[in-house]
Amino acid sequence: MALSCKSGAAMKKYLLLLAQENCEFRLPEIKSLLCLIGGHLYNLHDINEKSPFCILHIPSEDMARKLMKRTVCAKSVFELWGHGKSLEELQQSLLTYPSEKMVSYLQPNSTYKINIHTFNKTLSQKEKLAKIEALEFLPFRGKVSLQNAEHIFYLMEDYGPEPNNPRKEPLQIFFGRWIADGQRELINSYSVKKRHFIGNTSMDAGLAFIMANHARVKPNDVVFDPFVGTGGLLLPCAHFGAYVLGTDIDYNTVHGLGKASRMNQKWRGPDENIRANLRQYGLEKYYLDILLSDASKPIWRKGPMFDAIITDPPYGIRESTRKTGTQKEIMKTELFPESHVPVQLNYHLSDIFSDLLNFAAEFLVISGRLVYWLPVYRPEYTEEAVPCHPCLKVISNCEQMLSSHTSRRLITMEKVKEFEEEDQFSHIKDGQYTPYKGHNSFREKYFSGLTKRMAREERARNGGPNTGNYIVTENREEV
Ligand SMILES: C[S@@+](CC[C@H](N)C(=O)[O-])C[C@H]1O[C@@H](n2cnc3c(N)ncnc32)[C@H](O)[C@@H]1O
Repeated sequence: MALSCKSGAAMKKYLLLLAQENCEFRLPEIKSLLCLIGGHLYNLHDINEKSPFCILHIPSEDMARKLMKRTVCAKSVFELWGHGKSLEELQQSLLTYPSEKMVSYLQPNSTYKINIHTFNKTLSQKEKLAKIEALEFLPFRGKVSLQNAEHIFYLMEDYGPEPNNPRKEPLQIFFGRWIADGQRELINSYSVKKRHFIGNTSMDAGLAFIMANHARVKPNDVVFDPFVGTGGLLLPCAHFGAYVLGTDIDYNTVHGLGKASRMNQKWRGPDENIRANLRQYGLEKYYLDILLSDASKPIWRKGPMFDAIITDPPYGIRESTRKTGTQKEIMKTELFPESHVPVQLNYHLSDIFSDLLNFAAEFLVISGRLVYWLPVYRPEYTEEAVPCHPCLKVISNCEQMLSSHTSRRLITMEKVKEFEEEDQFSHIKDGQYTPYKGHNSFREKYFSGLTKRMAREERARNGGPNTGNYIVTENREEV
C-alpha cells in the first residue's frame, strides 16, 4: 500500500521492522513522525498489511535515527541494501547496490556480524549458517565479531501472515545494515504496573505513546487532556518535552483520594497524584496543573492555546459519563446561591464528542492535533459516524477491538482553519441527529454481548449499574 508520495531523486531506501501489535496504528504513527521530523511526507510502502516489514524512502540516515528516537511501533531501522522474492532476486538486487555505499562498512580493520531474523518461521542453526554462507559473494573484508561488532547486518525473511501455516519459502527477503532501534523499552519503563498513581482506566503505556506520536507532540508544546483521569496520557507528552495540563470532573481522582485501584491496597496513599507520577519519571518540570472541572463547560480564556489535545473520554463502561447540571429549574435561594454547583447529569456520548470537537477547533493552534478514542458499536459503524468539524481534518482512524461487537477507534484530527462562532458543530442538524447519536446507548450494547453471568459479576463488582470496571481487553493494563 503506498501511503503518501513526495519522492525525490535524493531519497534512500530504509527498511523498518515493525512490532506485531497495535498493527493498525503503526503506519499512521510513522507518517506523523515523519511529518514532525522532516516537514514532508515521503514514499512509504507497506509490503503487506500484516507484515512487520515496511520500506521507507527518506533522504538521510539522520532522519531514520530521529524517527527511531520517537517510534514505539517500529523495533528497528536498517539501511536497505537489497531485497527480493527469492534468494536469487535478493542476490541480483545486492549486486546492483552501489559499492561506494557499502565500502566504508566492509573495511579490513572493522568488525561485523550477520544476524538472521525470520517472521513466522523458526530456522535451525544449520539453516541459518547456510543462509549466511550464501552471502559470501558480498565483499566483506572485516573480522567477524559476535560479541561487539561495529557493523551489524541483517538477513530478514517474511514467511507470510500465518504463524501456524508458514510457507516453505519466504514471501520476501531483505538484507540491510542495522542503524538504530526504536523506543519499545518505554512501554515497559512506563508500564502502569510500575506507576505510583493509577486508576481503573489508566491508559496502557504503549497506546499512550502512540497517541502522543499521532499528535506529533514536540518539546515546549502545551498539551491538554480534558478527561485527564490519572494522567496516563500526559506522561508520554512530558517525556517528549511538552508542558502538560488536564481537567477532570472527579474530585477524588484530581486529589488522589479514595479507594485504591491496586489489588491488596484499600485506600490511595499520600502523594498519589499526577504530579507525583511525573516526578517518578523525572518529568515534574513539565507539570502545569490539573484542575477539577467539567469538560462540558470550558473555563478558558478565548483563543488558541494548546498545541495538542490528547484524551480518552469516558464511555460508561468503567466510568460514568456525567457533567454538572440538573434536570430541574434551580431556585436561587439561600440554599442554592448563584455559585452553587448543581448535581450531576448524564453526559450523552454524542454530546461529549461534539463538545470535544468544538473545544479543539477553538483552542488548538493551527496544525495542532486532537487525538481521542471514539467507542463504536461495530454492527452500526460506518465512517460517516465519525464526528466531523469544519475546522478539523481527519488524519487517521484506527480500530482497536474491545469485544466481538464493540471497538474503539483512535481518531487523529488536525486543525486546518481558524475557528469562527458559526463553525460550532452540533450533533443535531436540521432537527436530525448526526450518525454518532446512535452510539449513545454504547454501554447497553457493550453489555448485550456479555453473558448474564458476566454482567451480574460486573455489576456486583461495581456495586451499581452505571460504573464500569469489567476488564475486557488488552487495551488497558490490568493492575
Ligand atoms: C477514561 S477516563 C481517562 C483515563 C485517563 N486517560 C488515565 O490514563 O487515567 C475518563 C475520565 O473522564 C472523567 N470525566 C467524566 N466526565 C467528565 C466531565 N464531564 N468533565 C471532565 N472529566 C470527566 C472521569 O472522571 C474519568 O477520570
